[in-house]
Amino acid sequence: MLSGKNILLGITGGIAAYKTTFLVRLLIKAGANVKVILTDSASSFVSPLTLATLSKNPVHSSFVNEEDNSISWNNHVELGLWADFMLIAPATANTMSKMANGNCDNLLLASYLSAKCPVFFAPAMDLDMYKHPSTLEVLGKLQSFGNIMIPATSGELASGLHGEGRMAEPEDMVTFIKEYLELGLPLKGEKVLITAGPTYEPIDPVRFIGNHSSGLMGFELAKVAANLGAEVILISGPSNLTVDHDLITLIRVVTASEMYEEVHNYYDGVTIAIAAAAVADYRPKTVAEQKIKKNTPDFTIDLIKNKDILLSMGEQKKDQFIIGFALETENEVENAKGKLKKKNLDAIVLNSLNDTGAGFGKKTNKISFIDKNSSIKTFELKTKTEVALDIMNEIIKRIHA
Ligand code: CTP
Repeated sequence: MLSGKNILLGITGGIAAYKTTFLVRLLIKAGANVKVILTDSASSFVSPLTLATLSKNPVHSSFVNEEDNSISWNNHVELGLWADFMLIAPATANTMSKMANGNCDNLLLASYLSAKCPVFFAPAMDLDMYKHPSTLEVLGKLQSFGNIMIPATSGELASGLHGEGRMAEPEDMVTFIKEYLELGLPLKGEKVLITAGPTYEPIDPVRFIGNHSSGLMGFELAKVAANLGAEVILISGPSNLTVDHDLITLIRVVTASEMYEEVHNYYDGVTIAIAAAAVADYRPKTVAEQKIKKNTPDFTIDLIKNKDILLSMGEQKKDQFIIGFALETENEVENAKGKLKKKNLDAIVLNSLNDTGAGFGKKTNKISFIDKNSSIKTFELKTKTEVALDIMNEIIKRIHA
């Protein structure tokens, strides 16, 4: 699996860095070509000379090389392009936070940002750091970019404490990477249709009935699915959000009827469908051609029902795995299960409006994932990026079962 593969190993400054000497040896023994980038603080834990000798390549640590009276530039773009994959081990809390936020103050981070190849990262830190909400948010964010986490393990830590945060052992990292390369990205070959955002139902040329949905949940789902290898059709109602990803086709619509049409243009050819849109249930029966004047003391708009897009997907279901959303204020689980059944879904994501921090216009969400066997998994309040990852992981478990 690793024979002939070009591996760019980024080592950051944690005590686990000493284990990378064994890791380099194992990778070289498996037939890989290894180039090492060391951060400044990592060189306090492991010697560049040891790594250069084991990897049979010069070790890079700064943008500039000053050797034999000549100065040259370490090209981070070339390093990124050379690599079949990048492995950052150990990945300290500091480096991961910078990776998650696009900081670029050393050669390793510049190479990470330029790398087009898969990026693995192996976190290593003390147990309380590992459990901190900011660390958990960063881990979620990196995975939502498509970076692959080699989870830390539990055991004795350098602090003397016992718990989660130990970098995976070099042998286990190599096995993890081999297995991953064998299986590929978990959603490769899948076609995912996602509806997102609100719909606007026109009343006259300047007014409409709409809702506060921002579209964020659907856009995050699209990005996570694409980063996991899926081809994504994202059909969104009016939203300020944009997305730029080779695997995502964004189709913008305004009304529920337009969303219905677009969904059915693609639905037959997809393997997974996720209805995250807040579709207006009703639309004005007639749309005034001219702006309506305020001439009468009372004013009534007759509404007619929009087609239920998700219900129609359930009715026409072949092999698709279909997921809906339910936003409930009372009898939440029962109502969500009812919708799952009525719409012939494989799973439903329950949002409770009773949870603070969850719902429309927020960056965070708190969900329960309920499948058609009534198995319920409830998650903590998380950013919508992390929630998207949790949802995709639940789907992956079921489609690969
Ligand atoms: N949905 C849809 N088309 C509609 C209405 C809803 O695709 N016309 C989808 C939503 O995207 C969501 C799910 O159906 O995935 C929500 O179901 P729904 O029964 O409409 O829930 P509520 O809007 O909460 O409805 P109710 O007021 O009946 O509780």
